[in-house]
Amino acid sequence: MADAQTAGRPEAVTGTGTGTGEAALRELLADGGLRLEVSGAVATVTLNRPERRNAMTFATWRGLAAIGRSLPAGVRVVVLRGEGPSFSAGIDLGLFSGGGEGFPDASDPEAADRAIAELQEGYTWLRRPEFVTVAAVQGHAIGGGFQLALACDIRVAADDAKFCMKEPALGLVPDLTGTKPLVEIVGIGRALELCLTARTVAADEAARIGLAEIVVPRDGLDGAVRDLVDALLAVDPGAAVATKRLLWQAAQNTLDEQCAAERREQIGRLRELFGG
Ligand code: ACO
Repeated sequence: MADAQTAGRPEAVTGTGTGTGEAALRELLADGGLRLEVSGAVATVTLNRPERRNAMTFATWRGLAAIGRSLPAGVRVVVLRGEGPSFSAGIDLGLFSGGGEGFPDASDPEAADRAIAELQEGYTWLRRPEFVTVAAVQGHAIGGGFQLALACDIRVAADDAKFCMKEPALGLVPDLTGTKPLVEIVGIGRALELCLTARTVAADEAARIGLAEIVVPRDGLDGAVRDLVDALLAVDPGAAVATKRLLWQAAQNTLDEQCAAERREQIGRLRELFGG
């Protein structure tokens, strides 16, 4: 197993040819309170500031983006998890004490737009088809933490999980890519209700409204994630990539477009399986 924060072995941080260098990645992970372990086809990203309930700083989001750029080519499943009692308490509230210092400079909207886009890159790579991403959520997933879980393909929750979109209560909007999956999963009415009341959704409701695919007792979370990862790895790798690509475009496509996409992907599969 390679641990890029503590050991920094090369296989954890190279492989794509476009990634962040090993030393730079190690520094970004340390600054962002992140740990990355790559073991064969499975990468595990751990939010690792349990004493702050894995509160996130700008460095956390930049570190997540760097991980996305640096994963080795053979990774097929990425697990996002949090150390300690909570998945993540969202943005580090200490960032607000500087009167906006460190936040994107809103007096220069183009620069601010670029700065926010850079932070969003910490989340968008989780949709790439070459791997399936799994959030393992225990305790609180608040604001940016909730959005991180939403950025993953599948959410496995402990029965103590609590999801809350807190941003509007702080005068902000959720801008870490979470609004689209939230609306797609729960619908516009429920998404509005959750965001504009900033109320907390407990695990049983999360399962009922589709925010969590699997809910297990707290002490069964790691085992449930392991079982899911094993099942995901048992599927043909090429079929997994093609199917994820197909499923993620289904909501935007017309039926005709989606049928055409299915044909294209299947021809690729048939070529792979039988030649031609
Ligand atoms: N930022 C900075 N520090 C935090 C944060 C945070 N978001 N959340 C928790 N901490 C710190 C606490 O200040 C506390 O520090 P201390 O030990 O020095 O007093 C430590 O983490 C433990 O927190 P507790 O509140 O004692 O832990 P508990 O398990 O009782 O509660 C909870 C956890 C519910 C997450 C609570 O800490 C909380 O409400 N945090 C704030 C959540 C929040 O408003 N986040 C912003 C979301 S909006 C966005 O992400 C854009």
